[in-house]
Amino acid sequence: MDVVILKDGDAVAAAGADLLQRVLRRKPNAVFGLATGRTPLAMYQRLIAACRDEGLSFRDVTTFNLDEYIGLSPDDPQSYRAYMKRELFDEIDIDQSNTFLPECGEKTDPLDVGPAYEALIRSRGGIDLQVLGIGRNGHIGFNEPTSSLNSRTRIKTLTRETIAANRQYFNDPLAQPQLAVTMGIATIMDARQIVLLATGKEKAEAVRPTIEGPVSAMCPASILQMHETVSVLLDEAAASALTLRDYYDWIAQQKRRISGKKEGR
Ligand code: PGA
Repeated sequence: MDVVILKDGDAVAAAGADLLQRVLRRKPNAVFGLATGRTPLAMYQRLIAACRDEGLSFRDVTTFNLDEYIGLSPDDPQSYRAYMKRELFDEIDIDQSNTFLPECGEKTDPLDVGPAYEALIRSRGGIDLQVLGIGRNGHIGFNEPTSSLNSRTRIKTLTRETIAANRQYFNDPLAQPQLAVTMGIATIMDARQIVLLATGKEKAEAVRPTIEGPVSAMCPASILQMHETVSVLLDEAAASALTLRDYYDWIAQQKRRISGKKEGR
């Protein structure tokens, strides 16, 4: 696990955007797993700017979002489809027929959505880079605490805590869904590379067990300790509860030394 502690949210967004761009340069038809929420917004802004000003192109990219609410139509402004269009897809050159969320149409049996989504991800060759945020309770996607670490895309009931955290986005609390379809933890772990972004002090108590706790379904993000290629990008506030802070700084210092040597060659 590559733990990267950065000055602030802007630096986290820049480092996240840089990771995505590196994958895209290597593989112009990359498959990205994407997240919604507050955290990735600044990273998406940077990708939009790179498309506009630096010739970055998503023309051949496919995307799979982590989750979608059950019961909101795609054009409901609070749906994650609407969020993705607003915050990224409408602003870049992606072919929106290659953008997928685990959406449950009115006539679809919610139980069918998960297996179909899994098959679709496989048919596109799997996810090259998965972007994650983290909930205050350690959830990734909507895999709430006690989710099976081997879970696949399926319906989840949101915790009261998650519903409360997202209430701010809904004018009418009665219109806020309590169910979602989310990629499973095993689905996320299948991605070839993963980047988790966390900013703000309200995430510090979820970040600590993610990196330093035992692997446990009580903190779903802790499963990332078992993945070979994970970067955790944190601002100072989100990193503030880590106990091995000195060690992460020492690693960062060594990395700078090694990359300095390479550049000097
Ligand atoms: P946030 O949500 O980025 O809005 O904090 C993250 C999450 O709940 O996974």
